[in-house]
Amino acid sequence: MLFVCLGNICRSPTAEGVFRQLIASEAPRLEVEIDSTGTADYHIGDPPDPRSQRAAKRRGIDLSGLRARQVAARDFAHFDLILAMDRDNLRELESRCPKQAHARLQLFLDYAPECGVAEVPDPYYCDAKGFEEVLDLCAAASRGLLADLEKLP
Ligand code: 4NP
Repeated sequence: MLFVCLGNICRSPTAEGVFRQLIASEAPRLEVEIDSTGTADYHIGDPPDPRSQRAAKRRGIDLSGLRARQVAARDFAHFDLILAMDRDNLRELESRCPKQAHARLQLFLDYAPECGVAEVPDPYYCDAKGFEEVLDLCAAASRGLLADLEKLP
């Protein structure tokens, strides 16, 4: 499972942290590799945005150990599912995806149709409310994703 946004400092590390927490509490025996990355190179090596870290911490999720990286060709061979936070990033992934790639590319919010939105909004230029919304959307999609994984044989 690879979560992808633009900078890998706000949305995708949040998705990674939320999904990790859900697996730890609801499905600890499920063997799933979870990672996140960005399509851009602006923040390579940086920890998640302090606003993302603060918002996640209030929900018991520690993002402090994560570091941003940029998506690489090997990701398309390694991961089964690559989940983009918005359509721009999905298009970017599709354009970089080798023809015979193993991974399936999708929007993360495909797993939360009840939310009525297709994209996790970029909170970078928002106030604290934007970061709460990212967490809420990631929580809903993580539940949907886990429900789907639990249906697999
Ligand atoms: P993210 O948010 O894609 O959710 O990590 C952003 C982080 C940084 C920038 C844009 C979006 N930036 O322009 O530096």
